[in-house]
Amino acid sequence: MSSSVKVVVTGAAGQIAYSLIPRLVDGRTFSNKKVDLALVEIPQVVDKLEGLVMELEDSYFPNMGNVSYTDNFQEASKDADWFLLVGSIPRGIVYNGKKIEERSDLLSINGGIFVDQGEAIGNYGKENAKILVVGNPANTNAFIGKNAAKNESQLWMAMTMLDSNRAKSIISKKTNKNIADIKNMIIWGNHSPTMYPDAENISIDGDLGSSILNDQNWIQDIFIPSVQQRGKAVIDARGASSATSAAKAAIDTVMACEHPTDSGSCFSAAISSDGAYDVPEGLICGFPLMRMDDGSIEIKRDISLSNFAKERIQISVDELLSEKEAVKHLMK
Ligand SMILES: NC(=O)c1ccc[n+]([C@@H]2O[C@H](COP(=O)([O-])OP(=O)(O)OC[C@H]3O[C@@H](n4cnc5c(N)ncnc54)[C@H](O)[C@@H]3O)[C@@H](O)[C@H]2O)c1
Repeated sequence: MSSSVKVVVTGAAGQIAYSLIPRLVDGRTFSNKKVDLALVEIPQVVDKLEGLVMELEDSYFPNMGNVSYTDNFQEASKDADWFLLVGSIPRGIVYNGKKIEERSDLLSINGGIFVDQGEAIGNYGKENAKILVVGNPANTNAFIGKNAAKNESQLWMAMTMLDSNRAKSIISKKTNKNIADIKNMIIWGNHSPTMYPDAENISIDGDLGSSILNDQNWIQDIFIPSVQQRGKAVIDARGASSATSAAKAAIDTVMACEHPTDSGSCFSAAISSDGAYDVPEGLICGFPLMRMDDGSIEIKRDISLSNFAKERIQISVDELLSEKEAVKHLMK
């Protein structure tokens, strides 16, 4: 084996993690590297991870390295290369005697978690660590975590790959093209119902979406709302939120960051804005990204945006700004 990588996963006893964790050690995600896992849960359920570790051992993954589990995030963070922050407090549960229904409560409670985790990552994670926030509200959790980490050499991302994959699937059905021929599906903005899935700049068998999908009504009335509401549709159908598709999307994001992006292509995730496309600096916003040969992740800057696209992106950016305002008490 060539080298090793240490991956921290929070929410490790949850639904997404159950699909995600085996794929981290299957010899594909990190190619032939040995993968050390540090699994993190809250104290109330951390002991359940013993069962997951037993299953991992029983699965015979030749690339699996050392596996540990803990409720001490700081301890887990030491020298980690990757942090997959899946754990968060969902809407609807009773927390400290109060039912969490409002997005502002959700932002505040999860925000508190991400202050502590951010500080630990900044202090104990590797200098070039990559952090993917999956737990919702993902963009603002990442915003809080990055602010607390105060370590500019680390890369904070919030996951929009699931939205991108959902959008590709819808376009594949609409155009009767194989899903493998649908590329460059950019999700702009927030991972929330305001996100803007960009059908104009998608590549369909090598052609731009704007030249193939000549049906603005379908884009506005069917495509965009279907992507924006797909998470809710899955919850309604399954009685639980997307788990295996979310896990696959997290793996896709890791792989997109581990391997150079093909020339002219891009992948979707939200990262801290440097002012690109007029998104205010510092917001964690969905952009088209490229993994460069030197391992860095860059925003692809040559995407042309119609007025319609700019208006839709602005709506989502405005939402990110209002979330930023709602958590300003967590900024130090
Ligand atoms: N970004 C996306 O595309 C996307 C898609 C689907 C789900 N999600 C989000 O992912 C999150 C996890 O979903 P799930 O279905 O696995 O939920 P789940 O409830 O099955 O699991 C979440 C786990 O996180 C743990 N947890 C909570 N706070 C923690 C903390 N501070 N440290 C460590 N662990 C902690 C909980 O104990 C629980 O076991 C949710 O917030 C969900 O909304 C995001």
